[in-house]
Amino acid sequence: MPQTKFILDEKDIPTRWYNIQADLHEPLPPVIHPGTLQPIGPQDLAPLFPMEIIKQEVSQERWIEIPEPVRDVYRLWRPTPLHRAHRLERELDTPARIYYKWEGVSPAGSHKPNTAVAQAYYNKEEGVRRLITETGAGQWGSALAFACQAFGLECKVYMVRVSYDQKPYRRLMMEVWGATVLASPSPETQAGRAALAKDPQSPGSLGMAISEAVEEAAQREDTKYSLGSVLNHVLTHQTVIGLEAQKQLELAGDRPDILVGCIGGGSNFAGFTFPFLPDKLAGNRKDLRVIAVEPQACPSLTKGAYVYDFGDTGQMTPLVKMYTLGHSFIPAPIHAGGLRYHGMAPLICALYDAKVIEAVAVHQNPTFEAALTFAKAEGFLPAPEAAHAIRVVIDEALQCKVSGQRKVIAFNFCGHGHFDLSAYERYMSGKLEDFEYPAEKVKEALAGLPKVTV
Ligand SMILES: Cc1ncc(COP(=O)(O)O)c(C=O)c1O
Repeated sequence: MPQTKFILDEKDIPTRWYNIQADLHEPLPPVIHPGTLQPIGPQDLAPLFPMEIIKQEVSQERWIEIPEPVRDVYRLWRPTPLHRAHRLERELDTPARIYYKWEGVSPAGSHKPNTAVAQAYYNKEEGVRRLITETGAGQWGSALAFACQAFGLECKVYMVRVSYDQKPYRRLMMEVWGATVLASPSPETQAGRAALAKDPQSPGSLGMAISEAVEEAAQREDTKYSLGSVLNHVLTHQTVIGLEAQKQLELAGDRPDILVGCIGGGSNFAGFTFPFLPDKLAGNRKDLRVIAVEPQACPSLTKGAYVYDFGDTGQMTPLVKMYTLGHSFIPAPIHAGGLRYHGMAPLICALYDAKVIEAVAVHQNPTFEAALTFAKAEGFLPAPEAAHAIRVVIDEALQCKVSGQRKVIAFNFCGHGHFDLSAYERYMSGKLEDFEYPAEKVKEALAGLPKVTV
């Protein structure tokens, strides 16, 4: 029988993260101060992040050492398995060879702890007592709650209202790990109160929850802010995924033709694909296709503008150049809460702009159809976010059936959907809506962006 799982030993947990900034053909555009509209320096970020994280954010070193206490927590679930999806291949009757890197085995159920653990560690090392964050789907909040528990820090999470209502068990999971969880927009912050005054029924958004978390973190000496995606250091921490996957594909004797991942802020996609990119950036693997999958309801890469925008709704964060739908855009309440973000990681945007990576947008009904096909064949129940990647993997595998090509398709299976069963229920009872791309609302949101000339 052909092998199904490719498993590494604990000693194979990477000792260094890969920082793609070292291999970019051009440096990233500068990050801009929202007040002065000039490039920011490390001191501007110091109220929010510990110095080691600020250093990593701008580091041009190719490799960053993973501290031993971080690797020690990683040992609870890393290395994660790489699976060959034989059963899915048979179900699709495709000649393609499909692999998935299974990140849902972490305590929180997704890739998010890979950076949460590192961030909690650096904060603890620099004497921080409390971390504040936001969460969309609840996966990031759970990951940070777990990581704070591991290093003895307090944790407070602003959870986007629509997820707070859809996923009470995610909230309870965070509370088990000792975190305090609030629905966002909340009456606790100025940003939240202003949003509630405009719309008391606001479903919230990641951009709004970020404003609340940043506002509170900036006001307290003992507290810092922690972000689960978008920023360079977060993407770098996630590269443990791709570094392991490279070794595992070697064990399997295969070389990928197509890499796929879903994108909300870009971290799991980056973590999985970036370690494969130096060859492509150097011109040695022009044939390697790297596909980012986003929701049609929030299509930052495929429909956004590549301009400077705020990371949050309340205009408190620095301005970064990214593909954005506008910071005031509130995406429709799709069930892939982790993909409801108006912007995208600047590193992903630069690679998309340079045509190193591709992007595809999909609707949630075909996404859930793919999730069910996958769950029936492989057993595991995908998170709605992960199912976006699976939709495109299935489409590519079906194309191979038509063309007869035996392509190797590998994707990041970034999380399980055990807390998303109400979304599965809605899909199975035919009640799930597809939301068209809201062109008018995006146009309005983009019209209000500041003009940055650097
Ligand atoms: C399971 C899962 N996948 C993907 C995402 C999207 O984030 P990112 O693009 O940073 O991986 C999230 C975010 O919450 C998530 O929970």
